[in-house]
Amino acid sequence: METRVVLPTDENILFAGQQIIAGEIVAMPTETVYGLAANVYNSEAVKKIFVAKGRPQDNPLIVHICNISMLSPLVQSIPPIAKQLAEKFWPGPLTIIFRKSDSVPLSVTAGLDTVAIRFPSHKVALRLIESAGVPLAAPSANSSGRQSPTTANHVFTDLDGKIPTIIDGGSCEVGLESTVIKLDYDGITLLRPGAVTFEMLSLVVPNVRIDEGVLNEVSEDEIVSSPGMKHKHYAPLTKVCIIDSDLDQFVKFIQQHADQNIGALVFDNEDSLISVPTVTFGEEGDNIIQAKLLFSALRAIDDLGVDKIYARMPDKHDVGLAIYNRLVRAAGFEVITL
Ligand code: TXA
Ligand code: MG
Repeated sequence: METRVVLPTDENILFAGQQIIAGEIVAMPTETVYGLAANVYNSEAVKKIFVAKGRPQDNPLIVHICNISMLSPLVQSIPPIAKQLAEKFWPGPLTIIFRKSDSVPLSVTAGLDTVAIRFPSHKVALRLIESAGVPLAAPSANSSGRQSPTTANHVFTDLDGKIPTIIDGGSCEVGLESTVIKLDYDGITLLRPGAVTFEMLSLVVPNVRIDEGVLNEVSEDEIVSSPGMKHKHYAPLTKVCIIDSDLDQFVKFIQQHADQNIGALVFDNEDSLISVPTVTFGEEGDNIIQAKLLFSALRAIDDLGVDKIYARMPDKHDVGLAIYNRLVRAAGFEVITL
């Protein structure tokens, strides 16, 4: 199949909407990462997503809506906490898990009786959903296990020949996937941190818990709140290890290991202090920029031609929690504390 990369003109959005209604899958930009979208009500189309990505069958998809009236047909009820969160953070990078209605196929939820819903803010995503006229089931548009794509070029690298259309909306504003939360009787649990942060959620909801799987490794056979937690994620081909230390200690550590074929993932301007090949991911302390650059940086690591990458430790506050969550997975939870 030939993969066309097109700009988000009215004509192209109209055509992509028709492709979706005809049962095709289309890659679209969102404010977080690119998504690979299908008509939520067409299980054959949904299956194509799993095939194109090589996605494990037990990992459910997020359903994207373009206005709040699209929500109630997809869910059994809208609990008061969900309503509050939706009013505060939608449209935007927050995904809320609801009890699903009968109209949502089990192919979308991987057999679960819950459904993850997101109302994105990206204009192109909203225009595409509008054009298709149905909610769109869409995971990130990467090959399963790789970093989520933050440019159309990343999508093309992973899915060329496997999907008909990629809508190029430039690079994604946030750069990390949406925050995923589930509702509890007295609060919420954070299943995946993102740009709607723990701190932001805590201002709106009384009890915000962080699921154990956010910061810790879960084994393949464990029962988890979100199936995505137990799958291998974000791993470059090159082995990554995080060094929890200050800059001086990091520079010394690299010097001591410089006789090996290693590289470093560091903050801006630190590369001049380091004698091995480096990739940078934004200024230290600016976690908005780090979030935006992390996935491109993880992709660039494999081009260095080194056997192992040592990475600087991100700060874990605000969006930093999401950065750490992705990086520690890329590192297979290998962290050295100096
Ligand atoms: O920002 C995003 O969320 C992007 C864009 C495209 O919207 N999408 C995305 O989708 O990251 P995906 O499929 O790569 O990640 C969805 C995550 C997975 O970890 C999945 O296990 C979890 O959400 N998830 C989906 N439905 C769920 C459910 N019913 N219960 C628990 N976790 C769920
Ligand atoms: Mg994904």
